Order: sequence, then C-alpha cells, then structure tokens
Amino acid sequence: MSAEIGTDIPKSIDILRNGGLVAIPTETVYGLAANGFNEIAVASIFAAKNRPFFDPLILHIGNPNMLNQLVSNVPQNAKILMDAFWPGPLTFVLPKTSNVPDIVTAGQESVAVRIPNHQTTLDLLNQLDFPLAAPSANPFGYVSPTKANHVLDQLGNRIDYILDGGNCNVGLESTIISFMDEANPCILRLGGITKAEIEAIIGNVNENIHQNSNPSAPGQLDQHYSPFCKLKELENANIENLQNSTLLFYSPESKNCVQFINQKEILNFQALYFTENNTETQAASNLFSILRDLDSKGLSEVYFEWAPNEGLGLAINDRLKRAMVKRD
Ligand code: TXA
Ligand code: MG
Repeated sequence: MSAEIGTDIPKSIDILRNGGLVAIPTETVYGLAANGFNEIAVASIFAAKNRPFFDPLILHIGNPNMLNQLVSNVPQNAKILMDAFWPGPLTFVLPKTSNVPDIVTAGQESVAVRIPNHQTTLDLLNQLDFPLAAPSANPFGYVSPTKANHVLDQLGNRIDYILDGGNCNVGLESTIISFMDEANPCILRLGGITKAEIEAIIGNVNENIHQNSNPSAPGQLDQHYSPFCKLKELENANIENLQNSTLLFYSPESKNCVQFINQKEILNFQALYFTENNTETQAASNLFSILRDLDSKGLSEVYFEWAPNEGLGLAINDRLKRAMVKRD
C-alpha cells in the first residue's frame, strides 16, 4: 500500500506519537521523520532508506526552547549564527545530552540540530514534545526529494504518510557546521547557507568536507545524490560524442552554452538548464528535480556544465561531483 499524500497535521502528529514515519517538507529537501527520542521509530528510518547505521541523523525542532534538552553547550558564536539563520538551512553539531539516543548520533558524543524554515513543519514541530529525527527522504545514495511526489515515487510503500508542503524552495540540504571544537567551528557540509554568509557574521571558519572520490579506490567512492543516468563533464567531452546527446547547461547565458548553441545545427543536441534566469538560487532549487527528470526521461548519459565556483555554486558543484560517481 502506498502512503497517502496530504496536509493533515493532526494525522501526522498521531502517526509520529505512535512511532510511525512521516515525510515532512522543509525549505531544503523533504525529510523522513520519526520521533527522535524513540529508538525503534528511528531504527525504522534507517530500514526504510536502506541507510547504514553509522550515518547519524539531524534532529529537527520547532523553536530554540527545546535545544537545551538535546545539547549540553551552545557556544557564543553558535548562538549568534542561530539568531541570524534560524529557522533556516543551517545545522549545528554540538555536544549531546543523554536524552539523545545513540542510534540518532551513531554513537557519537555530538548531535546535529536545526530549525527548518517551512511553516507546515514548524506548525507540526511546535505541537510535539519531542524532536524529529529526519534524514532526506530518499533511498540511501539516491537524489534527495524536493517535491512530495518524489517521496511517493521511491518510499511510498515504506512510510505511513507524506505531509505535502509543496516544492522545497532552497533545494539543497542544510549547511552543517560543527562547534565540537568551540574555538574552531568547522563546516562539514556545504548547503543552503554559504560559507561567506557565515564568515560575514563570525569571521573565518574551517572547512572539512567529507570527500573521497579517488577513482583508484572504487570501494571508497563517495557516491551520493546519484541518479541512474551517467553524468559526464561537458568540459572534457569529445565533440563527436555530443552528436544527438543531451547537454545540461548551467544557464542560457553561461559561457559553454553560448558557445555550443551556435553549433546546435551541426550537433543536434537537446539543451537543458539548471537555471533559466541565471540565478544560483534557482539553480540550487532545480538541481535535484532535474537530476530525477534525467532518470524519468530514461536518459542513460548526459553532459553537464559546472555551476560557477562561488556562493551556492560551491554546494551545487559538491552535489554534482558526488552525483557523477556511479553506484556499483
Ligand atoms: O537539509 C537537511 O539537512 C535535510 C532536511 C531534511 O533537514 N536533512 C538531511 O539529512 O540532509 P541527511 O541525513 O540526508 O544528512 C545529514 C548529514 C549526514 O551526512 C550526517 O553524516 C551528518 O548530517 N550528521 C548528522 N549528525 C552528525 C554528527 N553528530 N556529526 C557530524 N555529522 C553529522
Ligand atoms: Mg541525504
């Protein structure tokens, strides 16, 4: 049986109180939520996603009042960033309290927490007396969902309800910043808030983005966010291979696009764009939806153009780099 899609918050509350799974909308991507204090419910998130237990989850809360139940210390600069960006796409890794079950944190002493900026989910969270543990609502390794239907397509038969909140407008997961070394905050994942936005408020931060895409060690490849369609870099493509192919340009105004469109008659390619209006926010919010569309169109290979390497473009390129790495 496939999960119902709807906008019923009381029903969602009921399911979550009883240890069930509800897909929730956020401004970044849809999350697959369960009661973060209920170990069995959290375990069923891992099962539904086929996610390895060593990958910890983010706890979502509706307002900062619940924070001190979950974390034992909020350093001054973390507090300043929370005031600036919450609710919003910034997740904080902080020392956990004993209330947080090990299954949420994969046994670590730290926990990841954020307040998402989506009214439906804020209304839901503010009626709960527990946090929602929620990874992105996709099967492990696949592209994250940015519409209720994306969740239905892939996890519909494994969850209880899909709370529909429309399209996710940021489209990239939250940025994750760790304050485990209080004096040296460190960005662990690029996402909806840029490093520059963070540094404008608290000064220099470190960056330690997990990446292992050394092709000589295929077992270690950091494949994630990956469509079934093979993604290839337009920059390194052989012109002959582009005949009758699909080219995914950053925007109609991007350098490669302008250059290639002149040859459209000769190469006869189909052009797609991450952003029609050449803005990084639109490119970010379209990214995962476009990658899914490649699969639903049945394309086996697509040549893409990188985003400009600045601002949100850095997070977009991080996702593209991972999406290029093929599953075994
Ligand atoms: O935007 C988002 O963050 C979305 C929405 C649903 O909130 N969630 C999301 O969750 O992207 P997920 O599970 O797909 O990614 C969470 C990342 C994982 O890479 C995990 O390793 C990291 O957060 N993480 C969670 N807890 C952590 C911790 N204690 N220390 C370091 N990294 C942690
Ligand atoms: Mg994910």
